[in-house]
Amino acid sequence: MELDRLTDREFDALYPLKINKLSSTHWTPMEIAKKAIGFMVRDSETRVLDIGSGSGKFCLVAAGCSTGQIYGVEKRESLIRLSRKMAAQLGLRVNFIHADIKSISFKEFDSFYFFNSFGENLDLTDSLDRENSIDENAYQENCRFLHGLWEEVPNGTRVVTYCEEEKIVPDQFILIKSEAKGKLKFWEKRF
Ligand SMILES: C[S@@+](CC[C@H](N)C(=O)[O-])C[C@H]1O[C@@H](n2cnc3c(N)ncnc32)[C@H](O)[C@@H]1O
Repeated sequence: MELDRLTDREFDALYPLKINKLSSTHWTPMEIAKKAIGFMVRDSETRVLDIGSGSGKFCLVAAGCSTGQIYGVEKRESLIRLSRKMAAQLGLRVNFIHADIKSISFKEFDSFYFFNSFGENLDLTDSLDRENSIDENAYQENCRFLHGLWEEVPNGTRVVTYCEEEKIVPDQFILIKSEAKGKLKFWEKRF
């Protein structure tokens, strides 16, 4: 299957209906994923981490459209199982890690993708499951934690954020460009 030719509707139809229906709220559109991965992967040695990989959509498109080594970390076990099954069906190599991002060493990666993983504590629209709850404190704490991890990664590290506020990345990151009416932002650590 030529993944890069599929529309979002065609790709999402590969998922079970319940997961498919969540796509417009929770999973990255194909064109956004392709733009992001083009910036994130320098060569076949580049290790990319999707922080909160969900159904695996970003990682699968990234693996199908780049030479990088693609990793996704996701706290919901059912989504990890589904992501691994999809990767096997599509014949793609992706490492899906079942864990909380707090247990991951960011030093193992060269670039990071981040799409609204903590939003589930601010907005219950299209809830993923009953674990979802409004918790502003948890949201702030998770953002601070992520900020701290990015403060420790080396210069040259690249981050792409989608539908996130600029303050989610530390000041040492330079905004290289933005697309999709400012929703897609490309960052590089320079200091
Ligand atoms: C908006 S979805 C994005 C999915 C995927 N990155 C994509 O773009 O297609 C965010 C995901 O982050 C996961 N998540 C939220 N907090 C997390 C945490 N602390 N550790 C791991 N995964 C987390 C959620 O379970 C959800 O599946």
